[in-house]
Amino acid sequence: MQSILDTITATMALRTQRGRVADYIPQLASVDPNQFGIAVVLPDGQMFSAGCADKLFSIQSISKVFTLTMALGKIGDAVWSHVGREPSGDPFNSIVQLEHEGGKPRNPFINAGAIAIVDAIMMGHQPKETLAEILQFLRFVANDESIFIDDKVAQSELLHRDRNASLAHFMASFGRIKHSVDHVLGTYFHQCAITMSCQQLANAGQFLVSDGMNLSTGIRVVSPQRARRINSLMLMCGHYDGSGEFAYRVGLPGKSGVGGGILAIAPGNASIAVWSPGLDSIGNSKLGTEALEMLVQHTGWSIF
Ligand code: DON
Repeated sequence: MQSILDTITATMALRTQRGRVADYIPQLASVDPNQFGIAVVLPDGQMFSAGCADKLFSIQSISKVFTLTMALGKIGDAVWSHVGREPSGDPFNSIVQLEHEGGKPRNPFINAGAIAIVDAIMMGHQPKETLAEILQFLRFVANDESIFIDDKVAQSELLHRDRNASLAHFMASFGRIKHSVDHVLGTYFHQCAITMSCQQLANAGQFLVSDGMNLSTGIRVVSPQRARRINSLMLMCGHYDGSGEFAYRVGLPGKSGVGGGILAIAPGNASIAVWSPGLDSIGNSKLGTEALEMLVQHTGWSIF
């Protein structure tokens, strides 16, 4: 495994077309695009990594996997009255479907859906309490107490919130947001500003590899059925309007973030985190996707 990761990292280092760093969140625009990291955790907890696998980056939308998991834990199938579970085929920050679909987001991974999930897990609490819960959950699944929120990134997104604020207010106009829109948005921006390394993220994904169990800690996080369902959503919706392309090229459930990270799950085989800040035109990590494509070619881990 180590030699595969070293080969992938050496190949990525030679790439000249590295995509474009997200600049609509100014704090992310200054990240050096010439970075690449990869970490793979096997079901027994053994970790392999290469490149900048211990460098911290903004996990952004990858956080949505964990807030969905929390929401399912808190309210179970009632989650599906807040969001759907169909791919949207539209960009991650699109508003158009909301108008015709009663303000209900297509799935929990597009921005509107993730904002609705935050509203669902707040349950009358203040943003600080909800954020503490989110952070606690991530520290628990990653088995790592050092995970934190980068307040500068959260503030940067708050200052440039027009699009997400539009989505939240639009949903509120349908009676779909129960808490203060400002509180929901503030919580969402801080959730997206969680900072992790590939190694930490690959650890956090372990429960989705082994039917809901984190085998390295011996702790069950969710039921086998729930793990399968979260994986199915990641496969169908985790890369927005690029989900079909990702399934075609990589063939694994995956969730991307505009920080350039991707968490990919090879059920029964591995939890994989890659990071390279340059994005493709859809907003998914360009080299991250190419690296995963190489990894499945070498390992045969595609689910298809
Ligand atoms: O709300 C946003 O726009 C960002 N905090 C998250 C978007 C994101 O990561 C899209 N993923 N590729």
